[in-house]
Amino acid sequence: MMHVADWGQITGDLLVFGGAYSNLAALHAVLALRGQSRVINTGDLVAYCAQAAETVACARRAGLLSIAGNVERQLGDNALDCGCGFADGSACDLLSAAWYGFANLAIGSEERAWMSGLPDAAVFHWNGRRVAVIHGGVTDPVRFLWPSTEAAVFEEELAALLQVAGPIDVVLSGHSGVAFHRRIKDVDWINAGVIGMPPNDGRVDTRYARVTQQGVIFERLVYDVTLTVDAMKAAGLTQGYHKALQTGYWPSEDVLPPALRRVPLVPSFSPKGGG
Ligand SMILES: [Fe+2]
Repeated sequence: MMHVADWGQITGDLLVFGGAYSNLAALHAVLALRGQSRVINTGDLVAYCAQAAETVACARRAGLLSIAGNVERQLGDNALDCGCGFADGSACDLLSAAWYGFANLAIGSEERAWMSGLPDAAVFHWNGRRVAVIHGGVTDPVRFLWPSTEAAVFEEELAALLQVAGPIDVVLSGHSGVAFHRRIKDVDWINAGVIGMPPNDGRVDTRYARVTQQGVIFERLVYDVTLTVDAMKAAGLTQGYHKALQTGYWPSEDVLPPALRRVPLVPSFSPKGGG
């Protein structure tokens, strides 16, 4: 049964982010930009980087409005993997074994209890609209929804959301790591992106969203990447994500749809002839 929290009425501008991924410097940077905004976290505070416990402690001190990502759920359940359901032996599967194992050692029982208490989703009223916060999908928290995903898939998710949360005007989501805004029927679906890892675009800055009455703006988050990379090196977390922070490209594109890959799935074909 999905636990949907009711956050009541929220006023003012929203600063929305997901995927802090144990990247403490990125979390510090985004919190420095909060101003008067209410800050909403779409989950996965802990993942690829090395400062898992510090990131959780910082987020808790900051008093964010948070839902659980799959990583909080798995850690809260004392599970042995991140819960993404990656194919056995795939690059994501092998890479996640390293960072999840590291995080699993770093996070204590008190933090796990806090994670277990986080809702799967939340709803609130904001500027006359009803907003839902989810992690990946509603039918599955680790469903990957991309800017290029067919509208029918979003419609299926919205139908599921209606069942558990009632009518919604705005969806705030995360998980996939790539920010986007889609208008599906009358609903604004906003994936705020992630602050802990760049969106595989060859730049080191990461993404968060500002949601105001005027609309949504995706901002680039500039933070001290060196701090995060040094912490990963010191911890021995050097399987590839430390390079992704510095190159802006993910170590594996397994989960990405073709349009978002740096390397095409099928090598380009040059027709012969024509001299
Ligand atoms: Fe996730």
